[in-house]
Amino acid sequence: MKSNIALIGFMGAGKTAVGKVLAEQLDKEFIELDALIEQKAGKAISDIFREHGEIYFRELEIAAVKEVAHRQNTIIACGGGAALNKINIDRLSEQGTVVYLVAKPDAILRRTSGDKTKRPLLESKDKLAQIKEMLEYRKPYYERAADIRINTSSHSIEEVANQIIKRLTKNESDSDKK
Ligand code: S3P
Repeated sequence: MKSNIALIGFMGAGKTAVGKVLAEQLDKEFIELDALIEQKAGKAISDIFREHGEIYFRELEIAAVKEVAHRQNTIIACGGGAALNKINIDRLSEQGTVVYLVAKPDAILRRTSGDKTKRPLLESKDKLAQIKEMLEYRKPYYERAADIRINTSSHSIEEVANQIIKRLTKNESDSDKK
């Protein structure tokens, strides 16, 4: 049985907040990929983007996924772009269930406003239009990568975590029947 959970989805979908609650409730380790990348690079995500560009950041992200994907009993909160690289999803799926946290543009806007250090990709003047455009492009990647999809827009962090636990239990009993 796969003992990891990889949380994917757009910026502001709640991957980190939900991941922490899940880790506590399921008694698993919690890892936030962006924090690991920052720790390894010795600088903030926004500085990595500014000084080295997005492609370099994606390379660090691939290396971070490779480092953590083989662990056991770990909740991995991915950055919003990690699911766009198939190699990341392949690695995360080996030991983990991939859970897509779905969020609507207005909820994303609300949850990401005011945070400039981690989200250099969300800096245009019309942020809502930018979110809609990026989400439209990314949706198929998230959908394709997901084993489970959970709607987060009007739910609390705890409700989302409980939904995930319910769905995981159902998935497991379904696969027992096969
Ligand atoms: C990104 C999302 C960010 C961070 C980086 C790139 C993206 O993480 O990895 O700014 O491409 O969507 P969060 O999804 O945790 O905000």
